Amino acid sequence: MEERLQKVLAHAGVASRRSCEELILAGKVKVDGKLITDLGIKVDPEKSVIEVAGKPIPGKEQLIYILLYKPAGFLSTVHDPQKRRTVMDLIHGVRQRVYPVGRLDYDTSGLILLTNDGELANDLIHPSREVEKTYRALVKGIPTGKCLGELAKGIMLEDGKTAPAQVRVKKIINGNALVDITIHEGRNRQVRRMFQRVGNPVIRLKRIAFGPLKIGRMKPGEWRYLTDREVEILKRLRKK
Ligand code: URA
Repeated sequence: MEERLQKVLAHAGVASRRSCEELILAGKVKVDGKLITDLGIKVDPEKSVIEVAGKPIPGKEQLIYILLYKPAGFLSTVHDPQKRRTVMDLIHGVRQRVYPVGRLDYDTSGLILLTNDGELANDLIHPSREVEKTYRALVKGIPTGKCLGELAKGIMLEDGKTAPAQVRVKKIINGNALVDITIHEGRNRQVRRMFQRVGNPVIRLKRIAFGPLKIGRMKPGEWRYLTDREVEILKRLRKK
């Protein structure tokens, strides 16, 4: 899309709009090799090479979306001052600076989205529009029907009552239960605290779905780019 040259320069982070006007008037700006000193000119930054003082301005960074199966034992942060392993250690060869959308505990495994699309990331974790997330929890003992009902209705935690959740017991393994729980909040250690509260602490926790994205046959440590269609679906979710 064509826009005034000074606006394009300002959007690229060259300087403020006013300072960019001064740069143009001072004869420092070239468009496709041609010196421009006219403030009225419009350009399409996707199609033209724009230089300031002989250097091309940075283009718009391509937005990317990565779905990672985080293994337990990795932090879902970009950097750890204590030098523990982070999700960044798992996505080699990605040039763009991406960051995780929301968090998974160090000891939780499962799906996490990484992107450089700040707008979409904010929308997906905004409390009023939090996407549904499904966790598979191996919990100690077998929750009673009453406990399952409480988890589903919402239970009181230190930071308030949880919103209604869907809870399904999948299997009993050696006296413990494998339970799928779908929530659409993202409070700190929420699932662990919920099960702790009803007396069935979590032994192992894995996020198996993030909105419409399912873990399927992915293996721990594996990642892939989202398809255009998946990105579209995520973008549509936030408009609801
Ligand atoms: N709930 C938890 O308790 N831990 C997570 O990592 C995510 C949700």
